[in-house]
Amino acid sequence: MSVSEVLGTQWGDEGKGKITNILAEEADAIIKSNGGANAGHSVEVDGERFALHLLPSSITNPNVISIIGPGVVVDLDILHEEITALRKRGITITGDNLKISSRAHIVFPWHKILDGVLEEMRKNPIGTTRRGIGIAYAEKAYRVNVRMGDLVNMDEKELRTAIIYSTKPNEANQPTPIDFTEIWAKLPEYKQFYGEFVCDTECIIQDMLSNNAKLVIEGAQATGLDIDFGTYPDVTSSSCTASGIAAAAGIGPLHISNIFGVAKCYTSRVGEGPFPTELFDEDGKKIRELGHEYGTTTGRPRRTGWLDLVWLKYAVGINSINYLVFNHADTIGKFEKIKVCTAYMYKGEKITYIPEDLGNCEPVYTELDGNWPNIQGLYHKLGDGHEKGDEKTRAREFFEFIEEYLNNGKLKPERTVQIAGIGWGPAQDDIEWILDIV
Ligand code: IMP
Ligand code: MG
Repeated sequence: MSVSEVLGTQWGDEGKGKITNILAEEADAIIKSNGGANAGHSVEVDGERFALHLLPSSITNPNVISIIGPGVVVDLDILHEEITALRKRGITITGDNLKISSRAHIVFPWHKILDGVLEEMRKNPIGTTRRGIGIAYAEKAYRVNVRMGDLVNMDEKELRTAIIYSTKPNEANQPTPIDFTEIWAKLPEYKQFYGEFVCDTECIIQDMLSNNAKLVIEGAQATGLDIDFGTYPDVTSSSCTASGIAAAAGIGPLHISNIFGVAKCYTSRVGEGPFPTELFDEDGKKIRELGHEYGTTTGRPRRTGWLDLVWLKYAVGINSINYLVFNHADTIGKFEKIKVCTAYMYKGEKITYIPEDLGNCEPVYTELDGNWPNIQGLYHKLGDGHEKGDEKTRAREFFEFIEEYLNNGKLKPERTVQIAGIGWGPAQDDIEWILDIV
């Protein structure tokens, strides 16, 4: 039995989907644990690109069970569209390979409207995806919201009553009275459509664990967007850290054997909030263009900046990450010199931790050599005969510096976090595995 987790270490879009899909080749089930249609993964399979929001990345792999866990908030319209579109492209999606937790909460159209209203009301807008995520989680916490189990188990009259009741606490904030017409019209179809998928996923997961199955929990969003450990209030509304995503999937901590943290060799962020290493110059633009840094969900240009090792070390710590995978080595390798943030100036002092008011930190950089135009095959083929100064050595020194920093300079094999893989492109094979673990 083994459960691995894949989670984002920065502010999302680190390329978790690609890693999940690689692990999925050996896995029995993939569980999407938290978040909702705010997420956007692009996965490339056999040369075809899929933009997914609610479905786990593994949905394109028919041999794996994809599970939408109880911690997810499900937008019925978007998931319906997503499933229908993938089916049209020949992907098999049935109740056998997709399971949706009966405990997962529903995102209704008025949650999205209210998400927008709240954004307009804020002194400092968060820049949410306006997918109703925060409102759905708030109504979950109010204990009035409707769940997937209600959708399939209640009769239509009961369900309508529950839905109307769920809108009461926030009714006064709606700009116009809630119009239920469309949702009433769709209810019978949705009850029918979702019926085959909705089940008590924790039973399935417990059975799989008893049968030595291999499971992967795919965390959504990222550590920097975690409601507790991220840059509050510029965060999402769920727990995105290792313990949070396990809890949201219904898996106890003793089951988790590997925690894969995914990072980019630089940093990107979409939406507002502190970002100490953000670049506003030509280098920032170069990262955005070379790395295609435009949001999958909203199309917004992403903010870009250098890799922040102080942040990454914090993420490694609070998530107990044992393996790191770096993406976009190709992008950063196109820079002659690469900066990495190794400390902050904060209240006149040099620090290497993450204070609650991260926005008051100024980055202190270390400059490393870049210029490895082609990372492909770079690491594995390292061997004798490489002179200091050649591109393979430069790349190796870059990643060695990171690993050493994150492990407080500890030598191998005492290191607690190891770089497991280095990604250099969007396709599943565009990755060098340094460690023989997948
Ligand atoms: P919300 O999750 O839509 O409430 O948005 C809160 C913040 O999280 C905003 O800054 C969003 O841009 C950001 N966010 C939410 N989901 C993702 C994601 O999957 N990738 C990157 N940023 C995200
Ligand atoms: Mg994304």
